[in-house]
Amino acid sequence: EDFNRRELVDVQGVPLFWGIAEEWSQVESFETRPDDLLIATYPKSGTTWVSEIVDLIYNNGDTEKCKRDVIYNRVVFMELIIPGILNGIKDLEAMQSPRLVKTHLPVQLLPHSFWKNNCKVIYVARNAKDVVVSYYYFYQMAKLHPLPGTWEEFLEKFIAGKVAYGSWYDHVKGWWEKRKDHRILFLFYEDLKENPKQEIQKLLKFLEKDLPEETINKIVYHTSFDVMKNNPSANYTTVEEWDMDHSVSPFMRKGISGDWKNHFTVAQYERFEVDYQKKMKGSTLHFRAEI
Ligand code: PPS
Repeated sequence: EDFNRRELVDVQGVPLFWGIAEEWSQVESFETRPDDLLIATYPKSGTTWVSEIVDLIYNNGDTEKCKRDVIYNRVVFMELIIPGILNGIKDLEAMQSPRLVKTHLPVQLLPHSFWKNNCKVIYVARNAKDVVVSYYYFYQMAKLHPLPGTWEEFLEKFIAGKVAYGSWYDHVKGWWEKRKDHRILFLFYEDLKENPKQEIQKLLKFLEKDLPEETINKIVYHTSFDVMKNNPSANYTTVEEWDMDHSVSPFMRKGISGDWKNHFTVAQYERFEVDYQKKMKGSTLHFRAEI
């Protein structure tokens, strides 16, 4: 289709999908409600995972209720607009409260209304090297993206911030700083992997909710990678073929920490790390060293 594989378009210095750029004024003026909950991430950082967990918390661990609809209708991707085809803003306007909202926007591009209404925000971060690997496969299967080129080429684009949603480095640092003056729960993919129960308890506290131990265990199981991979309401196999081609690479691909070790050459690793230190220098945001 001619709306696929188009070049990204610059919005205030951030490369975004053409439809978002074209309809930017709609995104910018999005009206929140005080009980909206925002799940914000750089792409491929655990959005779908945390979305499923939060919807389960909202529904007291009722897994059948959470199969009422697919994940992208339960947690709506706010800024995603493909004119004439998809419009997250319009979908949210029609949605009953309390709404669960997904965004990949960097903090400086978030619609002002979220700050004005003091909406709660959950931010999920994942280590950069696993993000770029996951993004490389996603670029190939999700056809709204331009073609990624070779792994080597894509890695360079990621380092330069010339991928959808721009610089990973600026994104994580920007949201990390913002937590000082807003209600943001900052989570890490790697922590969720290592101790999902503990991270779910953080979510419950943040959402001011209490659930029995048994229900928490049920949520851990239902949101484990293998179970989500086989759940059509969570695994994105329901999206149309023009949008995603799971035969190229499934949306639920590997779901592990450290897959970068299977992709980076030693030279790429060294180049990446030197640049990383430069870009993250002075920030108090630290990812686990062992990954
Ligand atoms: S998106 O398109 O940006 O919203 O994608 P996002 O959901 O943020 O990230 C997709 C990656 O998360 C992995 N994933 C999971 N890992 C562990 N457990 C669970 N339950 C889970 N669900 C999704 C998914 O497999 C993608 O990572 P990779 O490394 O590509 O496997």
